[in-house]
Amino acid sequence: MDHKDISRRDVLRYGAAIGAATACAGCIPGGSRKADVVAEPQAGTLLLSEAESAGLTEPDSSLLVSVEGEREKILVIHTRGVLHAVSSRCTHLGCDVLYDRDAAMIVCPCHKSQYALDGSNLTGPAKQPLRRYIAIRRQGRVVVTL
Ligand code: FES
Repeated sequence: MDHKDISRRDVLRYGAAIGAATACAGCIPGGSRKADVVAEPQAGTLLLSEAESAGLTEPDSSLLVSVEGEREKILVIHTRGVLHAVSSRCTHLGCDVLYDRDAAMIVCPCHKSQYALDGSNLTGPAKQPLRRYIAIRRQGRVVVTL
């Protein structure tokens, strides 16, 4: 294809693709972040590796876990010996939420919804809580029940 074959439609299509690729994924509705780890569910649970679990022993640490075969990721947070696990999908328009360790809450980078560590709503625009999961530490490894 030489440059004469490039149509206006092609230019618009490629421009849109480049724009989408360079946009801040955490700043657009439905934007997602790359997971820190990918875990394969087994018998309704996720078993994080020893190394991944060790990363969740530090106070105010968090890990974004992608579940194989699932669209939603799970945000696992460790604070003062307690594990919290919630869906990372904001209930407003689906951006991946983040753990704000300074504020000790979960925030959405898109429109600033705030959630408590148990996933309950603090401020909108999101009106629904984040889906919550049970996370425990067993023999040094973090187990999340799906
Ligand atoms: S997507 Fe709008 S507040 Fe999260």
